[in-house]
Amino acid sequence: VQLIVGNWKMHGTRSRARELAKAIASGKLPAGVMLSVAPPFPFLDAVGQELAGTSIGLAAQTCAVEKEGAFTGEVSAEMLASMGCMQVIVGHSERRALFHETDEVVAKKLRAALRAGINPIVCVGETLAERDAGRHEEVVARQVKAALDGLDAKTLERIVLAYEPVWAIGTGRVATPEQAGAMHARARATVSEVVTPGAAKAVVILYGGSVKPDNMAALAATPGIDGALVGGASLDAKNFLAIAENAVKGEASRKSLETKRT
Ligand code: PGA
Repeated sequence: VQLIVGNWKMHGTRSRARELAKAIASGKLPAGVMLSVAPPFPFLDAVGQELAGTSIGLAAQTCAVEKEGAFTGEVSAEMLASMGCMQVIVGHSERRALFHETDEVVAKKLRAALRAGINPIVCVGETLAERDAGRHEEVVARQVKAALDGLDAKTLERIVLAYEPVWAIGTGRVATPEQAGAMHARARATVSEVVTPGAAKAVVILYGGSVKPDNMAALAATPGIDGALVGGASLDAKNFLAIAENAVKGEASRKSLETKRT
């Protein structure tokens, strides 16, 4: 099963968000894919209403570390849970780069989500400078370790990882399936080291960064890629649904190859 998450970032208006949610909810979904969307905070309620009664999950783009208190402008994971959010993205590269979220803060946000009963989607990924310096594997391993250190296999069942190379986000320059596959393998190996091999085998790892309908199938056909975190292309219902469809096709072609091999 592929998981496709739409990250709407800071786009739209309340009515536009409602329209987009309605259009996605009315689309015909193939079997073998799960969808969720992460609208901006102020639209969670409207979008949640449009998604009610569908299988599409409601997600948020970040959460506060703290539960409540004098933290002007912050939104706690508990608040998100009360809005019907099932997932929250933590550690997105834009949060890390523009809002100074360190590995330590990301780890705390992940735990805040778990505390509130929301499943975290933890983003990791190297910058172009880090890749050019040959440090991409080391950076992603560090980010995964910092986020997951101390968690047990049972807790890992609630966590989704997203490998998002910063140089591929919003640039139109998608990682090749080989590059993404290798980094997913690296992230999985780190889960095996810090949690358990069983948890590593089971953990869902999404790819993110310029995912479009026409590159999704090849990514989903790659072993270890369990879905996608989609930014720009998730703002168009037709594109988002086409990505879901192509993810299913890609996974099916991978499976048929695997059966041929065995
Ligand atoms: P993009 O964004 O699909 O627009 O590259 C991906 C993301 O930031 O999650």
